[in-house]
Amino acid sequence: MNFELKTFDLAGATREKCDALIMLVSDAFKPGKDVFSTLLTQTLKTGDLEAKVGKPLVLYHTSGVASERVVLASIGAGSAKEVQKTVVAAVVAIKNPNVKKLTICFASLPEEAAVRAAVLAVAEASYVFTTTKSKPEGRVIQRVVVGVANSSKFKSVFERAAATVLGIEFAKEWANRPANHATPALLAEAARSLAKLPKIKCEVLGHKEVAKLGMGAFIAVAQGSDEALRFIVLRYAGATKSEAPTVLVGKGLTFDSGGISIKPAAEMDEMKFDMSGAASVLGVFRVLAELQPAINVIGLIPSCENLPDGRSVKPGDVVTSMSGQTIEVLNTDAEGRLVLCDALTYAERFKPRAVVDIATLTGACMIALGGVRSGMFSSDEPLAAALLAAGETSLDLCWRMPLDDDYAEGLKTNFADVANVAGRQGGAITAAKFLQRFADKYPWAHLDIAGTAWRSGLTKGSTGRPVALLLEYLLVAAK
Ligand code: BES
Ligand code: MN
Ligand code: ZN
Repeated sequence: MNFELKTFDLAGATREKCDALIMLVSDAFKPGKDVFSTLLTQTLKTGDLEAKVGKPLVLYHTSGVASERVVLASIGAGSAKEVQKTVVAAVVAIKNPNVKKLTICFASLPEEAAVRAAVLAVAEASYVFTTTKSKPEGRVIQRVVVGVANSSKFKSVFERAAATVLGIEFAKEWANRPANHATPALLAEAARSLAKLPKIKCEVLGHKEVAKLGMGAFIAVAQGSDEALRFIVLRYAGATKSEAPTVLVGKGLTFDSGGISIKPAAEMDEMKFDMSGAASVLGVFRVLAELQPAINVIGLIPSCENLPDGRSVKPGDVVTSMSGQTIEVLNTDAEGRLVLCDALTYAERFKPRAVVDIATLTGACMIALGGVRSGMFSSDEPLAAALLAAGETSLDLCWRMPLDDDYAEGLKTNFADVANVAGRQGGAITAAKFLQRFADKYPWAHLDIAGTAWRSGLTKGSTGRPVALLLEYLLVAAK
């Protein structure tokens, strides 16, 4: 999809040649003498257009307007959230194989956040996954023009938003792929393809290298599958070498059956999304290459499958992690923390300014926060505050969860330094407490995206979250 930012007023909007034009009107709207002003004033007066965020009003062949279809839609006070909701509803209302060129117009000068929200929302509402269809019917909307009265003011936020769409869609593509089209090896190929872009390097470790590093926890998860594991290391060098990098660690389980502690059959297909953390890291690198900010970022992706087999790790097995800590694997379905702990130890070598891991880690987090906010855990106050703020700005929300040491009691065992599960209570927190033992050498945060990374049901598919949150966090730090 192609985005363009243009300057035009309401009179200019009447001349814009496109298949559909969405006119966003806020409470601050002051009518002029043009056709759109008349249309808006009249439809608001008759109640055909509601003054609050709600149903968009679709019009055809409006005289004095070049666009064949016109959608009038209220954005209330004009907040980013209101614009997001309205644009999604408007794009859905004009879904039609003939609407290829779309214009989105703000009737009065918007906030920067509203422009970003409009770009992300039109991409979200028009996205289609086609990779595994035999006769792909792809996205219909090809070109989107965003019209404001003064485009120079919005250039940078607009470019960022358009780049963010590329990252979100890269993440969606890989997260949506079924496990047989997104093996650890294919994920590594996707990472390698990113290294063709500016300032990005990629290194891929296999079983031999990982064994030499002593990643016994990661290897234990991978050993039940015929698909070979991959440990992916991405580097984005936008600043001088002396600048400490931020490390992003993405859980890359291309399929999680639970292993010997096997999951129930219902909805097990959704465990193809268990590499959504990894996909978000790939998505972030896609955007970094596009925007080339003056920062250094490392991406680490431990990737494998979790399957039952004669060689699988068994409940009760004790494995030795790269940190030297021994782990009793009481439940083979708590595998995410096992692959992440070795990646967190590996992260130490980069002397990072911060490490953020992103993982579809616990069903418990999904129960706690649902699909609205990701769970955020951090041992570092400034890092927690920065992630929380980045979530609010990008509309990719998270919520801070506790890390009291008392939550770690249940991880104690007589047979190793730590067990990989505690009881059922506070499952998202005990998982985070497990990870924290391996992340004590740098400021660390953990994002549990189990509830937010994908949607189930009729609209089943990856959300591309939290690419937008991570980018906002990284770009604010770049200033
Ligand atoms: N990938 C799952 C978490 C998950 C489950 C995310 C369902 C989204 C929906 C993870 O590996 C897992 O299985 N976690 C277990 C941990 C438990 C065994 C302590 C869980 O949440 O049930
Ligand atoms: Mn699992
Ligand atoms: Zn998992």
